Order: sequence, then structure tokens, then C-alpha cells
Amino acid sequence: MIELREAEPADITVLSYWDTKQHVIDAGEDEDWNWAYELARKPAWRKMYIAELDRRAIGFIQIIDPLEEETHYWGHVAKDQRAIDIWIGEESDLNKGYGTTMMKLALDHCFSDPNVIRVLIDPLASNTKAHRFYERLGFKFVEQKVFDGEACSVYAISRIDFEGIK
Ligand SMILES: CC(C)(COP(=O)(O)OP(=O)(O)OC[C@H]1O[C@@H](n2cnc3c(N)ncnc32)[C@H](O)[C@@H]1OP(=O)(O)O)[C@@H](O)C(=O)NCCC(=O)NCCS
Repeated sequence: MIELREAEPADITVLSYWDTKQHVIDAGEDEDWNWAYELARKPAWRKMYIAELDRRAIGFIQIIDPLEEETHYWGHVAKDQRAIDIWIGEESDLNKGYGTTMMKLALDHCFSDPNVIRVLIDPLASNTKAHRFYERLGFKFVEQKVFDGEACSVYAISRIDFEGIK
């Protein structure tokens, strides 16, 4: 069974290890996450989760409020949205449906707040495998956008579309 639990300071070991994985690097998710600092705090605009398969850590999910996020990475965005980052750690855990389950759990979290109208993601424009993954989940392409010098493809899923895939 796959479950999400809140990330904690002790997860620095596994998260730093996953940062060295080629598929995580290729997705641009190996940027300096400053784990020691970030895992020790819980700002109101963010949740960080470790996905566990039968209690074994298999991946990471971050959910933010892009309007409130303190670096304003997303620029001008509407209120009542969420944005997600996701990756699986071990290559051997890819392509087994775990990511689909993790994403559905994350979307459940997001839309359990009745105010949330839309969830955003920003895969690299080059990460066509991830685009397919999100499209299959019901996300729709919004726009190409450069974030921190990286060309990204913004996708979004609305509450109505999410209700349709449940
Ligand atoms: C994207 C990701 C979370 C999907 O989880 P998963 O368990 O592998 O996916 P599922 O088994 O549920 O679905 C399979 C789909 O995932 C996508 N996928 C598989 N490997 C991938 C990889 N290395 N990178 C990106 N997407 C991948 C493909 O769309 C695949 O479908 P396909 O058979 O048509 O190619 C996972 O592959 C991953 O962590 N990839 C690397 C990091 C990443 O790209 N994160 C997203 C950044 S926005």
C-alpha cells in the first residue's frame, strides 16, 4: 500500500541520495533543495511528503501554495491554487504505477481544501515522459514558461477535471 507521510529531518539521508539519481537530475529536481534547512521548518504555504510503499520510502512530493510561496517562484498567480513537485527515488521503482498513485493521493490532499480550484505542475519542456504522465492523469497544457532559466511546460488540472478521474 502506498501512503504519504510528512517529511521529517531524518529524511535528509534518503532525499540527498535520491538527488544523485540520473532520472531525478534529468528532471531538474536535483537543484539545491537545502534539505537540512527546509526539513526543519514547516511554513504554512508548504507540505513535504515522503511516499512509502509498505513502509519503504519510495518518493517525494511537495505541495505549495504558489501565491504564498516565499521566493515567488511562480510569479503572478491566482489565489486558491496549489503546485506540486514529485519524484521517485530508485530507478527500479519507476514505471510500476507508484507515481500515479502518489499523484492521486497528492491531488486528494490539494482538493480536500474546498477553496482550491486548480493544481499546477511545471515539468521541464524536455521532460516529455512526464508530460505524458500528467496528461494521463487529466492535466492539461497551459503554457511554456521559463522558471529560473529553465524552459518548462506548465500543466494544470481543475477541480472539475479531477472529479472526473476519481
Ligand atoms: C514522473 C514519475 C513521478 C512518474 O512515476 P512512475 O511511477 O514512474 O509512473 P507510472 O508508472 O505511474 O506511469 C508511467 C509513466 O510515467 C512516466 N515516466 C516513466 N519514467 C519516467 C521518467 N524517468 N521521467 C519522467 N517520466 C517518467 C511516463 O509517462 C510513463 O508512461 P509511458 O509508459 O507512457 O512512458 C516518475 O517517473 C519520476 O520520478 N520521474 C523522474 C522525475 C520526474 O520526471 N518528475 C516529474 C518532474 S515534473
